[in-house]
Amino acid sequence: MAKVVLLPGDGIGPEILQEAKKVIHAVAKASQAEIDMQEYPIGGGAFDEFGAPLPQHTLEAAQKADAVLLAAVGGPKWDTLPGHQRPEKGLLELRKGLNAYANIRPVRCFSSLVGASTLRAEVVNNVDLVIIRELTGGVYFGEKKRWTEEQRFALDTLIYSEEEVRRIVKVGFETARQRRKHLTSVDKANVLDSSRMWREIVEEMKVDYPDVTVSHMLVDNCAMQLIRNPGQFDVVVTENMFGDILSDEASMLTGSIGMLPSASLGDQAGLYEPIHGSAPDIAGKGIANPCGIILSTAMMFRNSLGLSEYADKIEQAVNEILEEGYRTADLAGNDTDPSKILSTSAMGDRIVQKLVG
Ligand code: NAI
Ligand code: MG
Repeated sequence: MAKVVLLPGDGIGPEILQEAKKVIHAVAKASQAEIDMQEYPIGGGAFDEFGAPLPQHTLEAAQKADAVLLAAVGGPKWDTLPGHQRPEKGLLELRKGLNAYANIRPVRCFSSLVGASTLRAEVVNNVDLVIIRELTGGVYFGEKKRWTEEQRFALDTLIYSEEEVRRIVKVGFETARQRRKHLTSVDKANVLDSSRMWREIVEEMKVDYPDVTVSHMLVDNCAMQLIRNPGQFDVVVTENMFGDILSDEASMLTGSIGMLPSASLGDQAGLYEPIHGSAPDIAGKGIANPCGIILSTAMMFRNSLGLSEYADKIEQAVNEILEEGYRTADLAGNDTDPSKILSTSAMGDRIVQKLVG
């Protein structure tokens, strides 16, 4: 029996997770796979109830699971908490606790959503790239400090070991090898020592992948190229913070941040989550887009549960529903038929109907 740990979290988290659960139930039924789903607390709600954003029993369950599906954490209610108690800290601890160092973020523009992007159709047409973000190192995990002398000071440390860089760059090369065989390594080697080491390591490793072409790009240029000509990218590999920022930017190529899934892989359970946050501005309204978490569920079936056939079916179902013109509010434009603007749960239901129909 496959064990899946579900982490609803805060804000729109529980609303979108509900839709992912419908999809998992439908796949379990169709495939006759036995899937045991258990929910655990994480984030601000977990802090309120258990005094910690990642309670010990949540971490232990995640470490024993085959896969972990997380919706989102955070919200204004917890913004004034000290760093170690904040909801986002729970997420960082979970990623670290699962050693989920490779965050894989496919960025694809569904053809029916070309018009939903703020960019011109010819720019976003055929966008199909993957951002591979290092997830358990870098400045988010380095030493932090605040102190006051005559004025306030704050310190964050960007540190990487060779091993951390090698293992993520390897994921970059291997992924490129299975796709269009082009790897763009993104850094800030004109300024940062950690980036210069990163670049050296990529250069050393490329001899083992003669079939993959490699280019290095500075992160600021990459930010620009992503919206100038995203079609030039196949696989992008980069460190934690650059990957965080570039993938939010890249989401705009697809129409909405609510569309993008991710998988975070390491040597334990895979962690699957949409790339967006808890969207406090729309929480409780029933209008959040569940596609990001549903597509993350597809990645879970493919990478952790050995059911790639159903992963393909889920992606196909999402595509067909969009082709039929159905939209959640974030994707709706002036040309959207108002009768086709769906709530979170109606969108989930449509996708499930396609899946089982
Ligand atoms: P956000 O991603 O939650 O929201 C940014 C904008 O996108 C908002 O206008 C929101 O309404 C919209 N949006 C996000 N997801 C959507 C969806 N599924 N459907 C429709 N619209 C959607 O980022 P924000 O506002 O910067 O952060 C809000 C909270 O979420 C903060 O506490 C932040 O720390 C946390 N956060 C958590 C993450 C996680 O749990 N993985 C990731 C990013 C932020
Ligand atoms: Mg982000």
